[in-house]
Amino acid sequence: MAPRSLNPKASDNISQRLAGQNSPQPRRRGILVGMLAFVVGIFVGIFPLGAGLLTFFDPILKKKEEGGGEDDSAGGQLLRVGLLENIPADGTPVQAPVIANLTDAWNREPNQPIGAVYLRREGDKVVAFNAICPHAGCFIGFDTRRDCFQCPCHMSSFNLDGSRQMPSPSPRDLDMLVVEEDILAKTGEVWVRFQNFYPGTADREPKA
Ligand code: FES
Repeated sequence: MAPRSLNPKASDNISQRLAGQNSPQPRRRGILVGMLAFVVGIFVGIFPLGAGLLTFFDPILKKKEEGGGEDDSAGGQLLRVGLLENIPADGTPVQAPVIANLTDAWNREPNQPIGAVYLRREGDKVVAFNAICPHAGCFIGFDTRRDCFQCPCHMSSFNLDGSRQMPSPSPRDLDMLVVEEDILAKTGEVWVRFQNFYPGTADREPKA
C-alpha cells in the first residue's frame, strides 16, 4: 500500500515542477541561448581580429602605395646626389655619396647611405657612373696621375667615359646612370636614377 502524503497539495506542486524540468521546452531554450551566444561571440571576436590584421598589414599596403612612382619606368630610384656648381668644370670626376630613405614593411630609416656615384661634367651636361666595379663589386677610385678610374681589387681600369682599358678583368664598362637633364637645367641640382647592378656579367642586370 502506497504511503499517504501528509500534504497532498505540496506533493502535487513538486510533481508538477519535476515534470516541467524534464519537458523538452526549456532544453530547447537552452540550446537557442547557447547558439545565440556563439554567434555573438564570433562577431565580437571577428572585428578586433580584422582590425588587428589591418594594422599588421598596413605598412605593407602603404609601402606598395608609396613604391608606385619611385622606381622603375625609367630604371632606378630618382635621388639627388649633388649640385652642378660643385663638379669641376675641367671634367675631373668627383665622387658623391647616394643617400636615401630606407623603408621596409615596418621601419623607415631616413638619410641612409646606399652607394656612391662618380659625377663628371661634359659642358653643361653631367655624366654619372655607379662607383661599384662591374667585375666583383669593389668600390673604384679615381687615379689623378693616370686620369682614369681604377679598381683596387683586381686592377680594372676605366677611361673617363667609363669604357674599359683592355685587357680588363671587368666583363663590362662602368655602369652609367641616367641624369635628369630637365631638373639639372632648371635648378642646377644633379638628380640621378640610381641603380645597382649584378657584378660579373657582360650585360647589365639591375638588382631588385
Ligand atoms: S672587383 Fe674591380 S677589378 Fe675585380
